Amino acid sequence: MQLKFDFNNMMDAYIGEQGISEAEIAALLPEAKKAYAYFEKNRGAGWMGWSELPYNQAEIVRDIIATAADVRSRFKNFVVLGIGGSALGPMAVFNALCHLRYNELPEEKRGVRFYVEDNVDPERMHALLDIIDVKETMFNVITKSGATSETMSQYLIITDILKKKCGADWAKHIIATTSESKGNLIKLAKDEGFKTFYIPDGVGGRFSELCPVGLLPAAVLGIDVIGLLRGASNMDKACASSDPYKNPALMAATLSYLAMKKGKNISVMMPYSDRLKLMADWYCQLWGESLGKAVDLDGKTVHVGQTPVKALGVTDQHSQVQLYTEGPFDKVITIIGVEHFDKDMPIANGADEFKDVNFLCGHTMGELINTERVATEYALTRSKHMNRTVLLDAVNAESIGELMFFFQLETAYCGSLLNIDPFNQPGVEEGKNATYAMFGRGGYEAKRAELEAAPKKSDKYII
Ligand code: PA5
Repeated sequence: MQLKFDFNNMMDAYIGEQGISEAEIAALLPEAKKAYAYFEKNRGAGWMGWSELPYNQAEIVRDIIATAADVRSRFKNFVVLGIGGSALGPMAVFNALCHLRYNELPEEKRGVRFYVEDNVDPERMHALLDIIDVKETMFNVITKSGATSETMSQYLIITDILKKKCGADWAKHIIATTSESKGNLIKLAKDEGFKTFYIPDGVGGRFSELCPVGLLPAAVLGIDVIGLLRGASNMDKACASSDPYKNPALMAATLSYLAMKKGKNISVMMPYSDRLKLMADWYCQLWGESLGKAVDLDGKTVHVGQTPVKALGVTDQHSQVQLYTEGPFDKVITIIGVEHFDKDMPIANGADEFKDVNFLCGHTMGELINTERVATEYALTRSKHMNRTVLLDAVNAESIGELMFFFQLETAYCGSLLNIDPFNQPGVEEGKNATYAMFGRGGYEAKRAELEAAPKKSDKYII
């Protein structure tokens, strides 16, 4: 295991009355054991198909690796069209495991250029089309439902361009990743003959990085996808106990639940590594969309959840950390640290006469970022603000697999503790349905009437 979970600074022994006591953990033990038992009993079933992904994809992985090699040999660009769970994982893994300036490297030092188009900002689409030649580009359309407006509008724009520029071969520029059994993309894929990968039933968007959604883009980038899955299975095995002291994800969930009960309604994710910067975006969706729920499993109105906030160490020490150390006691700050950077950068000599600068000389940037990480932990703890550290030995495919599976497990356990369904997203549907109604989609006439009957905005409140 390359990941360590350090929760010292969540405990009352370190942050006094703002912290959690061992007695509180002990009192929650029966619930934690139930959460574990529920997970184990339902492994692979319902919406927990993702729990088996580290074990049941040997054949798919072979196809992914072969397809990726083919893409690399024939194309110069690989563009993901997808949003939410169909985009955030691929972006986070790309950022973590490829060169930080990957697309700008000279061609001989990288593979195909890689882009993830998740928004429907027209200027962004124009910007992409300004820098790629679609004839040299493979588009991976990813949508589990096969119906998401953002992704399908991108699909329509791109296929129209491909048809005009590539003629009969246009369909060879698209790989579809979608549900085998439902949605429009699968029908289009069959009609047009797109190469297709399936998102297994029981794997929801935000839990899908370790299926073809994330594995194909990763393999195209030359990332060790088997290592990613091995990391996930390492974490799964490390969490094979109903005792939170022997199961890091269950302990993390137990503490998150207790923290929420103490009014810590904000979860700040703060990696001290640029390579892990986008892991915070991925986590924000996982944590926010899974746990933010109005109603519990008994139908009771609960309005639970913790608002996820992304931050970056050390950058946000000069921005948000003032609030975290002196502001309200309403947060848990998760620091992700990296013990060994792949490459370090010595801080050169050259300021002998300036003592206030010279103390840096002879050290390295790696030492500086890690010292600042420990210093921030200290400052947060000294001011009694709850924080925890997830420490990776290094950033590699295996440790990233461990990290992502750790947070997925924590989310699932925490959903059980909160007695909510962490795998649905009814709050997202409302906005989607309103968009369909306003765009005149058939079947949404009643929603359109509801929108038209809603109170109109008053000019009095617009200045
Ligand atoms: O986690 C989820 O299920 C969602 O955030 C989806 O990933 C997102 O809405 C995109 O859906 P789809 O993959 O069906 O296009």
